[in-house]
Formats: sequence, C-alpha cells, structure tokens
Amino acid sequence: MKVAPSILSADFGNLQRDVEAICAAGCDYVHVDVMDGHFVPNLTIGPVVVSAIAACATKPLDIHLMVENNTFFVDLFAPLKPEYISFHIEEEKHPHRLIQKIRSLGIKPAIVLNPHTPPEAIEYLLADLDMVLLMSVNPGFGGQSFIESVVPKAKKLSAMRDEINPKCLIEVDGGVSDKNVKLLKEVGVDIVVAGSYVFNHENKKTAIESLKI
Ligand code: DX5
Ligand code: ZN
Repeated sequence: MKVAPSILSADFGNLQRDVEAICAAGCDYVHVDVMDGHFVPNLTIGPVVVSAIAACATKPLDIHLMVENNTFFVDLFAPLKPEYISFHIEEEKHPHRLIQKIRSLGIKPAIVLNPHTPPEAIEYLLADLDMVLLMSVNPGFGGQSFIESVVPKAKKLSAMRDEINPKCLIEVDGGVSDKNVKLLKEVGVDIVVAGSYVFNHENKKTAIESLKI
C-alpha cells in the first residue's frame, strides 16, 4: 500500500516543517486538497501556497481538486508539475477532454468519485486514466468518519480496472487509519490518503508504516 498524507491536517503555521516531516517519514506522495468554497463548503489553498509546498517536498504531489471550473484550476497548478491531478466526475461536463488536457501537460490524470457515485460512471473513461480516487468521506473536511460502503465499491472498481486498464491505480481518501487499511488492501486499493490519522499520531513514521501493509 502506498501512502499519501493529506497536508490539510498539517499545522499551516509550520507548513515547511510538516511537509519535510512526512517526506522524511517515508510517505509516497504529498496529497494536496484544493477547495474553492463552491464545489465544497470549505476553502483551502491556491498555487502560491502549493508552490511553497512543492519547493520543500521531496515526494511527488498528488493534487485533489474540489472545485468548480476544473480547467481553470488545472491551468493554475500544472506549472507546479504534480505527479497527479484529480478532478471530480460530478463537476465535469467533458471529463474525457480534461483527461486529455492533463496528460498533454505531462501530468497523470485521475478522477474522483464522491461516496454516492457508482464506479460505472467512469467505465468508458477508465482506459484513459492513471488513477481513480474514491472518496470515503464527503469532500470538504479532514477528520470525518470512514464511510464503509467504499469497500464493496472499491472491490467492484478493482474488477473493472483488472479487465479494462490493469495499470490504473485505485486511491481511497477520507477517514483512513490502521483500523480500515487492511480491508482496503484486500479489495485491491493501491494508495491511501490519510490526514488526521498521520498528523494526530505522536510519531508520523510509525503512522505511515502502519498503513504500508
Ligand atoms: C477531504 C479531503 C481529504 C482529507 C482527509 O475533502 O479530500 O484528503 O483531508 O482527511 P482525513 O484522513 O482526516 O479524513
Ligand atoms: Zn483529498
């Protein structure tokens, strides 16, 4: 299992310290939650702060857009050369076009599914994706409880992935801890995002290692 700690749970007064700490503690990606106050009822950070994160991160960025007007935000963040940019299928009229655009910018495209969105919604996009991100909480805030129905959903998506595009990774985001990571591993999940679990743990290295099963 790969681990992408979400900097949403970091201490923003000590962002450099916390980004360096999770990278030194062995994370695989730095998960960056971008919220616009429209698609979700919360507002986070833009390219000024994310470029400061990119400058001190020694691991690749995994940018999760929770915004209206995805194309505008892809253009804003592409110059920071993240490994992944993911956007919500619920907020995109032309997802295939946006996948092509992200790939043309040299970035791996990913799509996010909210808890209510079935895996079939991306059946005809799966062949063109590098990753699918399944939300296991409602997007907008860290520290929420894990929604169990993501487990059978990940299992279904994993079967679709094996048939259509075995290279496409499955990531799960929200309420992940050492208590549910095993379940996720068993149904074929490749990467977990963990915010409050990693940042509230007394030892970030121990927390990250407990998810790398
Ligand atoms: C929620 C974000 C998550 C969040 C995860 O909208 O996408 O990345 O920060 O935080 P935890 O792990 O605390 O649920
Ligand atoms: Zn996220």
